[in-house]
Amino acid sequence: MQAAFLKFLACPNPSCRGTLKLDAAGSLKSSDKKSREIAEGFVACQTCREIYPILKGIVILVPDVWNYLSRNFLLIKGICAKYGGLAPQTLKTIMSRISLPLPKQVDYDVSRQRVFERESSFYRLSHYGDLWKGLSPKEPLFDFLQQQKGRSPHDVLETFLLNGTRKNGGIAVEVGCNVGGFLKRIAPRYETLFGVDLNLEVLILAKKLLKGGPVELLLAQGEYLPFADQTLDLAASVNVIDLLEKPEEFLKEQTRPLKKGGKLLLAAPYVFAQNLNGRAKNPIQWVKNMLKGKILLEKEKDPVCWIYRKGPRQYEIFYTHCLSAVKRG
Ligand SMILES: C[S@@+](CC[C@H](N)C(=O)[O-])C[C@H]1O[C@@H](n2cnc3c(N)ncnc32)[C@H](O)[C@@H]1O
Ligand SMILES: [Zn+2]
Repeated sequence: MQAAFLKFLACPNPSCRGTLKLDAAGSLKSSDKKSREIAEGFVACQTCREIYPILKGIVILVPDVWNYLSRNFLLIKGICAKYGGLAPQTLKTIMSRISLPLPKQVDYDVSRQRVFERESSFYRLSHYGDLWKGLSPKEPLFDFLQQQKGRSPHDVLETFLLNGTRKNGGIAVEVGCNVGGFLKRIAPRYETLFGVDLNLEVLILAKKLLKGGPVELLLAQGEYLPFADQTLDLAASVNVIDLLEKPEEFLKEQTRPLKKGGKLLLAAPYVFAQNLNGRAKNPIQWVKNMLKGKILLEKEKDPVCWIYRKGPRQYEIFYTHCLSAVKRG
């Protein structure tokens, strides 16, 4: 993580939202002194005094962070080991703060993270718009896939940005950024850009793929974003809301840190995986009702095909709905 980005962030604890500073004692390993890129270390909240670790260049900014690390420790340690491991001092500090023996229950959907890890090589292909590359005309879906070129949710949301009433620029965040395909597209339009995801491994991959850009990647939860109120110019999410147990909390968090007049981009297939509670009847209308009074709808498009390549002979097509809105003044 680059220390310069810390001034845009806030404590993820919703009852705090204090400012964050690099914890001098904890800044153990700086991989590049010139760019102040911190590979490992700790960040401290200046209000509640909580400390948050930086692992493999990614700061972990979730509420109740040590409980989260206790519950996901083996998974996180395994991912860090795969990418070169952690310094003994970092590991020692973490071990001294987490509770052992490790509880069996997990806070977040770690099994879902594992599915994404397994599929990430194929996922990366389609996510970066490379679905079409190297496609043989003998491929049974060749014509169909060619027709879909430039018509994905990422394409549509980018058009919304280009043709919107508000000038781009400022501070943007994409929640559920995965390996960073959409971040890469919008990076030239924003001075400061954050990618948020709960999956450490995809964030490490995104960091490698986006190297050099003005993008900072955060392990954070869409329902508890580490930003103060009214600080963002753009909040975007693509195909995330329907994975969540509490989509209403997610929607509140997508608008809370937006400045007045700030832009909201939202795309989803609305195939709610859990907790249907009647949302399934008309989820798009449900989302609009949830946002009523907070935003002014600018543009929407439906359906927009999201093609997910699961394997050499397996594609999944989701019909997504895309919307662009601005936060009311
Ligand atoms: C279906 S993928 C979509 C990825 C990407 N936005 C795209 O357009 O291809 C959903 C992503 O959301 C992330 N995610 C799931 N729950 C999340 C949460 N509560 N907060 C932040 N990210 C989350 C997953 O790890 C995954 O990378
Ligand atoms: Zn705090």
